[in-house]
Amino acid sequence: MKLLVTGGAGFIGANFIHHILEKYDDYHVINIDKLTYAGNQQSLARWSDDDRYRFVEGDICDQEVVDDLVSQVDAIVHFAAESHVDRSVLSAREFAMTNVVGTLTLLDAAVKHDKKRFHHISTDEVFGHLALDAPAFTEESQYHPRSPYSASKAGADHMVRAYFYTHELPITITNCTNNYGPYHFPEKLIPLAITNIMEGKKVPIYGKGNQIRDWLHVTDHCKAIDLVLHEGEIGETYGVGGDNQPTNFSIVEKLIAILGADPEEVIEYVADRPGHDFRYDIDYTKIKQELSWEPEMTLDEGLKETVTWYQENKAWWKPLKEGSYKEYYEKNYKSKTV
Ligand code: NAD
Ligand code: TYD
Repeated sequence: MKLLVTGGAGFIGANFIHHILEKYDDYHVINIDKLTYAGNQQSLARWSDDDRYRFVEGDICDQEVVDDLVSQVDAIVHFAAESHVDRSVLSAREFAMTNVVGTLTLLDAAVKHDKKRFHHISTDEVFGHLALDAPAFTEESQYHPRSPYSASKAGADHMVRAYFYTHELPITITNCTNNYGPYHFPEKLIPLAITNIMEGKKVPIYGKGNQIRDWLHVTDHCKAIDLVLHEGEIGETYGVGGDNQPTNFSIVEKLIAILGADPEEVIEYVADRPGHDFRYDIDYTKIKQELSWEPEMTLDEGLKETVTWYQENKAWWKPLKEGSYKEYYEKNYKSKTV
């Protein structure tokens, strides 16, 4: 099988390419990635001499490039996106372009080239947020996005589903909760906290740190995508969740304990994110019952393993915290420091 992976130089896409090339000897992967600040070819350096892997630097909004690549593959696994909520607060235009128009560009190419199999990676954030005691989101939950990021992902999901009904494109969608693990860009909570602690810097906690995310190790997410791609029912959506419900404060606390730091020295409370979603949780009964998927890695195990990865891969993340990232970091946190 030949796959077109979009956004494969990003966090989950890179982990997915490792998963596929390690598991299936006869699979080929073409990775199209624009190499935005979040894209990093170093994450896939081990495949650079393998003829099963090809990298194309390109934009998923570029119809000509996308058309050509889609014509060469059996299926598309679509990760490429602007993915960081805080950046969508600062500026939302790129989110609409890549996440909605880019997805549409891929869908048009998939229809044009014999209705290619299309798997779309989405987020539980499209459903909005939950109160502490509310039941988890399911595949039937109403869309209620509250950030420019989640609104653009909701737009993409609707477009993908519309192409199933309108053009009979063989699509599937997964809506997954927060991922963590290797190759995670150090702007998101877990890698930011780990690398800041390692550098002797403060870890900014938004508001009171009582918000809740449902964390899933990225390898468990990749296994779910693999299953849905091969065995999922066409036209269906699958929720993918982690069974973990810590507050942001307790995640940071766990990382401080693993790294042996002093909480008093490390934690810095800063102003809250505007429109901050309070809680995410997704019910994964459907994928469990239909495809026998469930998370394998516990949060404590996964966090320890992730800390070790960042300790052993300083050469991967240190350069990422310089340059344009530093500029973003200062802009984002300057407005938040109280
Ligand atoms: P990421 O930001 O780490 O990676 C995104 C990748 O897409 C980068 O390599 C970037 O260069 C590339 N890209 C951006 N715009 C592009 C364009 N126009 N053309 C081609 N490439 C482009 O994101 P991630 O965390 O790996 O997320 C991957 C997907 O999974 C996204 O669709 C995201 O919405 C979804 N998702 C993420 C999470 C999470 O916790 N990270 C959870 C659920 C769903
Ligand atoms: P993040 O990793 O950005 O993912 P998302 O917003 O998609 O859930 O943030 C996870 C949670 O951590 C979210 O509630 C915001 C919070 N947070 C902080 O408290 N401090 C930080 O520096 C960051 C980046 C996030």
